[in-house]
Amino acid sequence: MILDLIEKKIDGKALTQSDFDIAIDYLMKRGIDNLIVKFFYTLNDLGMSKDEVLFLANSIRDSGRVLHFEETIFEKHSTGGVGDPSSLVIVPLLASLGYKIIKTTGRSLSFTNGSADRFKSIPNFSARLDYIDINNALNKTNACILSHNNDMCPVDKILYDLRERYGMVENINFIASSISAKKMSSGANVVLIDIKYGTAGIVKKYKDAKRLAKLFKYIFSKNNIKSVCLITNTLQTLGSTIGNAVEVVDALNVLQGQHSFLRKIANKYAVELLCCADNHLNKSDAYDMVNVALDSGSAYKQFLKIIDCQGGDCECFKNATIFKPYHSVNFIAVKQGYVGCINSYAMAEIVRCLCANNHDDNIGIVLRVKLGDFVQAGDVVLSFYYKEPKDLEEYKDILENTVRLTDLKTKKIRVVKKVIK
Ligand code: URA
Repeated sequence: MILDLIEKKIDGKALTQSDFDIAIDYLMKRGIDNLIVKFFYTLNDLGMSKDEVLFLANSIRDSGRVLHFEETIFEKHSTGGVGDPSSLVIVPLLASLGYKIIKTTGRSLSFTNGSADRFKSIPNFSARLDYIDINNALNKTNACILSHNNDMCPVDKILYDLRERYGMVENINFIASSISAKKMSSGANVVLIDIKYGTAGIVKKYKDAKRLAKLFKYIFSKNNIKSVCLITNTLQTLGSTIGNAVEVVDALNVLQGQHSFLRKIANKYAVELLCCADNHLNKSDAYDMVNVALDSGSAYKQFLKIIDCQGGDCECFKNATIFKPYHSVNFIAVKQGYVGCINSYAMAEIVRCLCANNHDDNIGIVLRVKLGDFVQAGDVVLSFYYKEPKDLEEYKDILENTVRLTDLKTKKIRVVKKVIK
């Protein structure tokens, strides 16, 4: 049967919804074998129409439980990039304003970590909830964090493995179907997608980011879901940290009132979501609402409630032990200049390798500068938190070259390149 589908595609015929249902059912039942890999290779090599991407998304969604709600449910997702803990701010922020938000999360894919990995670094936190627990969480806290381990979109996890093993992570049709399936399965009706492009993103090219936005808009409109896509570049990380636990600290700082670039961008995403849900809402009123939620501490209180409701240990935030580094070293600027380039991709690869080798989330990087900043010789540009002395030896030379300085005053970059409503 799978062979017939491959031949049909090679013959130039369009695959139907039932063709994709058959393929996904096969993958669910038999796992990854040569035939199904060949099927996905064929899609990868020959491309897919937007309807085929929609059908694949629908089949992934239908591989597990699909939630339905009467009320408005928000969702947010990123296509994958380095150093972005914004969801940890946006979820409690909107929940504290009385809106309901579900966050279906994915685990790390390629060099990027996912929200599932950040939440996993919170002791005892569980993103594996059954239907009753999901409703309880929503009723109690207005929010719910769900991982791949739930019975929602179970095939997406298998597809992650297949795409990683066979070099298909960057295929934009697979990215669109993977993400939109998760958003549809959660019963969301207002969705924001952050489409990142650049070397520190899974999507590399701007033109692919634009094509991806069109695919998301198409899939969501066919499923009566309101959506807004933001195309953002990865020249600059949204947060100032890289690593699972340290990224939680980054978000926590914003929830506790720190004014940073992460706060600015999380506010923008929250406002775009609010305005997408209600097109009569005035943008500046929406900004006032989110600023009050952060400044009053109500978003932070909501964060503690959400974590507590899903079994997480909130003491680690109160006594600041969420991130427990072993050793740290500061890297300094050897000359004065403007920050011209930050290689966050290389940093993410280092942190990913060390976390995996040490089975430890207490490894990470804090970036002390942003693009365009002027630094003096001797200023700290980044701090590296590591476990074993040999880890520093191994990566010292690379880390020394991740922040490049230039004599020319560089323009501050615009991270959000385009908003597509
Ligand atoms: N995030 C997902 O959930 N899926 C992808 O394919 C990429 C990023």
